[in-house]
Amino acid sequence: MNFMLTRVCRIQSVFTSGRLLYAVANQDIRRHEPASTIWTTAPAMQALEALHTRSSVPKLGDPLPDQQVLDNIYKAAFRAADHGVLRPWRFLLIKGSSRERLGELFVRAAEADDPSVSIEKKQKLRQKPLRAPLVLVTVAVPKQHPKVPAFEQDLSAAAAMQSMLIAAFAQGVGAMWRTGAMAYNPLVMKGLGLSENEKIIGFLYLGTICGGTKTLNDPKLSDFFQEW
Ligand SMILES: Cc1cc2nc3c(=O)[nH]c(=O)nc-3n(C[C@H](O)[C@H](O)[C@H](O)COP(=O)(O)O)c2cc1C
Repeated sequence: MNFMLTRVCRIQSVFTSGRLLYAVANQDIRRHEPASTIWTTAPAMQALEALHTRSSVPKLGDPLPDQQVLDNIYKAAFRAADHGVLRPWRFLLIKGSSRERLGELFVRAAEADDPSVSIEKKQKLRQKPLRAPLVLVTVAVPKQHPKVPAFEQDLSAAAAMQSMLIAAFAQGVGAMWRTGAMAYNPLVMKGLGLSENEKIIGFLYLGTICGGTKTLNDPKLSDFFQEW
C-alpha cells in the first residue's frame, strides 16, 4: 500500500515539472507586455483556468517540489492586494525534522491547556505537521500606518495565502490551508517566535499530490451577485 502511494506521488511530480515551464513563460510575458495583449494570450487563459478550478489537496506527500516551483509560489504572495504596499506578513518554512518539533510544540500547548489531554489526542497533534513535506506558516505582521488599520493588513496576509494556494495549484503542487485551535494558541505562537502583535493566518501544507482531488460544482452566480 505504501509502495502504491509513493508511486502516485512521483507520477504527479513529473506533471509538476511540465507545468513549471508554462508558469515561467507566463511571468516573462507579464513583465514585458502591455496588459491589453495579455488578455488575449493563452497564458492569461491558464490563469483563469487555475482561478476557476483550484481545489485543496488534503493528502500530500514527498517529494517537496523543486526550489524554482516553490519560489514561484512564494513570489505570488507579493502580488496580493496590499493597501499601502506594507507587506504586512512573513512566512516560516517548516520542513524535515522541524515538522516533528512543531508537532511537539502542539503537544506542549495542548498539555498546557488541559493537563489530562489523552495520549490519542497528543499522538494526533504530533502527526499533524507530518501531513506534508512543507508547512508554510503565514504570519500577519501589522505595521503602524495612519490609514491602514491592522485588520486590513490581516486581510492582505490572507490574500497572500490565497495567491500562494493558486500558484501552487497552477503548477500542479498540492496545497491546503489549515488553521485549527493550534493556530490561535498563545504557546504555539510564542514557540514559533511570533511577537505580541503578530498572528498566524494559517498553515499552508504543500507537497506532491497523493490520491485524487475533488471536483466542485460551479455555483449559480446570481445566488451570490446581485445588483444594488
Ligand atoms: C482561514 C482558513 C482556515 C482553514 N482551516 C482549515 C482547517 O483547519 N482544516 C480543514 O480541513 N480545512 C480548513 N480550511 C478549509 C480548506 O483549506 C479548504 O478551503 C476547504 O476544505 C474547501 O476545499 P477547497 O479549497 O478545495 O474548496 C480553512 C480555510 C481557511 C480560509
